[in-house]
Amino acid sequence: MTGPRTIDLTGEAAADARALRDAFGCFTTGVTIVTALDEGGRPVGFTANSFASVSLDPPLALICVGAEASCLPALNASGAFVVNVLHVDQQALAAQFARRGADRFEGVTPGTWHTGAPVLPGCMANFECRTEQSIDAGDHRILIGRILKVHHDADHEPLVYLRGGYRRVHTD
Ligand SMILES: Cc1cc2nc3c(=O)[nH]c(=O)nc-3n(C[C@H](O)[C@H](O)[C@H](O)COP(=O)(O)O)c2cc1C
Repeated sequence: MTGPRTIDLTGEAAADARALRDAFGCFTTGVTIVTALDEGGRPVGFTANSFASVSLDPPLALICVGAEASCLPALNASGAFVVNVLHVDQQALAAQFARRGADRFEGVTPGTWHTGAPVLPGCMANFECRTEQSIDAGDHRILIGRILKVHHDADHEPLVYLRGGYRRVHTD
């Protein structure tokens, strides 16, 4: 804990990525795995907490993907993705899909719905999306997806991410 800090990003401190990261880290999120198919039809995926709901009518959601992320070419080419929302017992899977150079799908048998993008089984929710808009935003790209199909199972506690660590909450 470092105590309260105020950083003005219009000045010298604009390069203080650590402070900005710490401030972003005060916003509690869920944890998802975003999946897609690459041009060879192989499944790709990465852990993401940038998922947000956008619109109910039409049904839209967004994710932010690092401009250098290995999955971005597959997401661009396939034009479709699935956001798989993790529950608290899937923390190991979150770590597996954030690891570099690993077979991220080891031990995972995904299903498919409309687009062929991998749907991870046993998740708290899955949102299958067709990419509707793709927007360059700094060192990330915002993908806004039209939601084609959803599954949810609220009978779970969510996996939560806060201040750079996985957390659990009790929802009762
Ligand atoms: C909890 C958590 C949330 C993350 N959220 C995102 C995200 O929203 N967008 C993103 O591009 N990368 C995110 N990452 C990083 C990716 O999972 C991945 O490790 C990174 O993109 C490097 O992947 P690559 O080796 O496939 O390029 C997150 C990682 C963790 C552990």
